[in-house]
Amino acid sequence: MDNYPRLFIKAGLIYALLGAALGVTMAIDPSLSVRLRFVHIHINLLGFMAMMIAGVAFHVLPRFSARKLPWPEGMKYQFILQNVGLLGMVALYAAGGWRGGIAHAVFVFFAILAGMAMAIMFYNLYFVLTAPEETPKPEKITGEMKVADVLDHFPQALALFLESGFKSLANPAARQTFAKVVSIEKACDKHGVSTTAFLEKLNSELFKEDSSAPIPTEGSGPGKEIKHGEMCQADTWVGSLIKAYPATKKVFESNYGEGCFSCPGQAFETVEQTASMHNIDPEKILAEINAEIDRDIKRP
Ligand code: HEM
Ligand code: HEM
Repeated sequence: MDNYPRLFIKAGLIYALLGAALGVTMAIDPSLSVRLRFVHIHINLLGFMAMMIAGVAFHVLPRFSARKLPWPEGMKYQFILQNVGLLGMVALYAAGGWRGGIAHAVFVFFAILAGMAMAIMFYNLYFVLTAPEETPKPEKITGEMKVADVLDHFPQALALFLESGFKSLANPAARQTFAKVVSIEKACDKHGVSTTAFLEKLNSELFKEDSSAPIPTEGSGPGKEIKHGEMCQADTWVGSLIKAYPATKKVFESNYGEGCFSCPGQAFETVEQTASMHNIDPEKILAEINAEIDRDIKRP
């Protein structure tokens, strides 16, 4: 996780503790709420809630929309402005003087800082969501085109990508994320596939008179289901495996880390694809999974 999303979350958690402490203080002595109510509310809402939301959103939204934040350094300015603005406001409020003279002017200054932080957050999060512009259907596939653009216009090309070695594209989440930023040239480089030969194959298949290649869907892509009682194979879908044998989930968690099941695409990846994505020998994972299955089947 990048530095700033993490900082926002950590700061948010600290404000949660502070907010709770203030709440408990007011509960014990309600007369204190004249000064502490504003502090409690803003520490909880502008500190805890807003910072947690911003931190998680900065981490997640660019990945889901496959776009960069429009102003990544803005996270730093927002972090500083939001903390200084919030702490300044609550300190003045708690000190009892925010409605008169110079103290009011200083309060307004901190309020403006906090307001600016919110405006930066708005800018980054609103515009990271705006959909990419539609591109016209190309007449020829070239190396600079993004993988996802080709798949958008020619869904039948997925089969060609998969059989040429771009196995990770079987995963819908991969098609929604890195396929949008990687060009065909880069993808070929990374997978050791000849760009010229692959482009030739794509162009000759996609632009031939009768292009009737079947359109693969999540259910008909490479891979197969598994039922309770069967053993797992390299091309078994992870989603189906977990359904048939929930105990095998821990094999994935121990090898790939706990976060892997938060990925929306894992259900339609095969065991082999997940292993190759994580640079782990598929045979090792399969052996561990089948040992779990064996234990499950033999269990009285
Ligand atoms: C340990 C946790 C908490 C305690 C003990 C607590 C306690 C209190 C108390 C005693 C009040 C009344 C203050 C008054 O006399 O006016 C209050 C108000 C408030 N609290 Fe909390 N609180 C807690 C957590 C939270 C959290 C997590 C949030 C928001 C995320 C929150 C938001 C508010 C708001 C918005 C008000 C004002 C409600 C109104 O306008 O009537 N509180 N809290
Ligand atoms: C940009 C930053 C913000 C500034 C400058 C600001 C400023 C203020 C001010 C001056 C008041 C009136 C206080 C009084 O009359 O005693 C107030 C009240 C309040 N604000 Fe904010 N606020 C900000 C952000 C927020 C956010 C993000 C939330 C909630 C998500 C929030 C929730 C509230 C609530 C619930 C009250 C009513 C408090 C009460 O009933 O006593 N504020 N705010």
